[in-house]
Amino acid sequence: MKPGAYVHIPFCAHRCTYCSFVALEGKREEEDFFEGVGTEVRSRASEAAGGLGAFDSVYFGGGTPSYVDPPRLGGVLGALEETFGLSPDTEITAEANPDDLDPGRLLALRAIGINRLSIGVQSLVDAELAPLERRHDAASARRAVGEAVRVFGNVSADLMIGIPGQTRESLLLSVEGLLAAGVSHVSVYLLEIEKAPRLVALKRERPGLFADDDELAERWLLVDDRLGAAGFPRYEISNWARPGRESRHNLKYWTLTPVLGFGVAAHSFDGLRRTANTGMLAEYVRRTRAGESPRVFEEEKPEDSLRRKEGLMMGLRVSGGVPSSTFEEIRKTLTDAPSRRLEDAFDAGLLETVSGRVRLTRRGVLLSNEVFQAFL
Ligand SMILES: C[S@@+](CC[C@H](N)C(=O)[O-])C[C@H]1O[C@@H](n2cnc3c(N)ncnc32)[C@H](O)[C@@H]1O
Ligand code: SF4
Repeated sequence: MKPGAYVHIPFCAHRCTYCSFVALEGKREEEDFFEGVGTEVRSRASEAAGGLGAFDSVYFGGGTPSYVDPPRLGGVLGALEETFGLSPDTEITAEANPDDLDPGRLLALRAIGINRLSIGVQSLVDAELAPLERRHDAASARRAVGEAVRVFGNVSADLMIGIPGQTRESLLLSVEGLLAAGVSHVSVYLLEIEKAPRLVALKRERPGLFADDDELAERWLLVDDRLGAAGFPRYEISNWARPGRESRHNLKYWTLTPVLGFGVAAHSFDGLRRTANTGMLAEYVRRTRAGESPRVFEEEKPEDSLRRKEGLMMGLRVSGGVPSSTFEEIRKTLTDAPSRRLEDAFDAGLLETVSGRVRLTRRGVLLSNEVFQAFL
């Protein structure tokens, strides 16, 4: 697989209650930030010269890439093209908030070369959007997704399971709404509230609004059934797509393919080591201006065995699983207790072997953390 580029855009119009991403409210520093990204991209030309080859995926994540001026993203694409090269069929995704997606913005995003949108919808039920402090309501999100499908064709949307007040019925309403709007890819995440003080406080005051683990699992199974029946097979724990519309970029994370990250808080993996940029915007701007690297973390080169275990864990996230031979080779290197844990996972129906590959069963997906413990 060819390498990919990830570009983190750390600006949002408003901070949602639940979010733990590196994202600031407002975009006063937009100009300084993009100047920094241009500098960073060009300063890493030696990584291109190291033989990585041209990118065939670029992913603008955030934060909210659709919130900034589209030509700024175009400028980053230009710098990536000049420095690293982009394959002619590069998948170029921008994460987007429904709020931003008026017809003019959609066309501007397409004009600079974006060919896939990933829209944060979260829910298509107004009473669920309120505690999340989303700025759009269900009707405008529906409209935005429909418009985006007309302009881009290739559109993904995010939903969350476990939103306060959500029920099985309301979750299915959201799924149906996305299907009706014509998306070709859906990501569904379990709402994490640990780092969201206002939601933690709400749970303390009104625990009845929050589902327990068994209920969350039931909801995930419902989503999996409905999307599967609609022609969206699950291809990863949290991702469903029409065949051929799987995210090329995200598959790179699960196959340990190199992805270079640019911008505030971006992480990189060059095939051997992981590195990370500063998460502080002011520091990012200062360093790039001063001709210094924004990198603040560099992993020691890990043992081969560690990387292979990591590769196996990531491979099990994908529905096709991993070759049995690879699985066995790595299992043999484990000590008694984790090796037994894997055997127990087969006995308990969490792992299965199908056509020479080992993969998580549906129950195994729900208990994947228990299976992955064997490799930690
Ligand atoms: C960067 S956002 C998507 C684009 C845009 N910023 C937006 O929110 O509309 C990435 C996605 O991560 C998911 N996410 C963010 N915080 C989460 C949390 N605490 N628990 C689960 N999923 C979360 C949401 O589904 C969100 O759409
Ligand atoms: S969920 Fe999206 S819009 Fe909301 S704060 Fe996080 S990155 Fe910004």
